[in-house]
Amino acid sequence: MSDLSINFCGVKFRNPLVLASGILGVTASSLKNVIRNGAGGVTTKSIWLNPHKGHPNPTMFGTEHYFINAVGLPDAGIEKAIDEIKPLIESSEDPIIVSIAGGNKQDFVDIAEKIHVVNPQILELNISCPNVEDQFGRPFACVTVDAGELVKRVKEVSKNVPLVVKLSPNVNNIAEIALECEKQGADGINMGNTFGPGLVIDIDIRKPVLHNKVGGVSGPGLKPLYVKKVWDVYSAVKIPIIGTGGILTGEDAIEMMMAGASLVGVGTAVYYRDIDVFSKMVKEISDWCERSGVENLEEIVGAAH
Ligand SMILES: Cc1cc2nc3c(=O)[nH]c(=O)nc-3n(C[C@H](O)[C@H](O)[C@H](O)COP(=O)(O)O)c2cc1C
Repeated sequence: MSDLSINFCGVKFRNPLVLASGILGVTASSLKNVIRNGAGGVTTKSIWLNPHKGHPNPTMFGTEHYFINAVGLPDAGIEKAIDEIKPLIESSEDPIIVSIAGGNKQDFVDIAEKIHVVNPQILELNISCPNVEDQFGRPFACVTVDAGELVKRVKEVSKNVPLVVKLSPNVNNIAEIALECEKQGADGINMGNTFGPGLVIDIDIRKPVLHNKVGGVSGPGLKPLYVKKVWDVYSAVKIPIIGTGGILTGEDAIEMMMAGASLVGVGTAVYYRDIDVFSKMVKEISDWCERSGVENLEEIVGAAH
């Protein structure tokens, strides 16, 4: 039996598969259910300082190749989130990654300070959502100095909790951005959030499918694009990577790890293969390790470089 456990920023995961933020991670009971179904760890949906309204329905649409969403990060705010996840973190044997989001840099600092009461094992900064500070409406993750400054400011208050920064694939200088985040104190990189925005039109009603018109694109058709981004980040930084995007099978996860990911984020796959996708993928990874003579999964991280 191969050892599938991964040490990520000093936190032990029994396998490399982590529920990506925003997928089923709405309540403590749904996060628990994902762990019961085989995930090595889970990420909460992104938590805001104050209640945050999402977009009206319809917010999601999928085909066999891709998935588009404009959920808009709805959230009840930090106080409710603390009540929900504190008992979960206290009772869980598996790591819970707490994702936070904000409309401006001070929000991120304030949430990071407040979230300490739950003792998060890992804090994930979702800086790949649209912000209100940039006059062009660009996410912080798309501007090197903004990404770095945010990491630096949050790191000052997040003490010794490992800080992962979730980047956007919608840039052509990902290595530079990842390197700046590392320089400013990030302990890990999640690469990454959805591609886009994309647009899908319903030809029968001659209108966009989503109420918000545009949305973030994820899912299996985008896997080679995400694998390349992870490859580029791994080439640039020494801190560990969560490779997220387009992963559907155990073999996909192994490919992502060979590109440089230590952990693999699994999001849209839940819609394609159901909630037990985690245990199915663990079996696929395990079978591959047996076939390939891999005793310890950590040895394949970055193996394709
Ligand atoms: C419905 C939906 C909601 C999401 N909500 C969040 C969120 O709250 N925070 C976040 O950082 N990413 C969010 N994401 C992005 C995913 O965590 C993930 O980065 C992206 O979908 C790519 O991975 P995948 O192809 O495995 O889905 C969301 C994605 C989807 C499809």
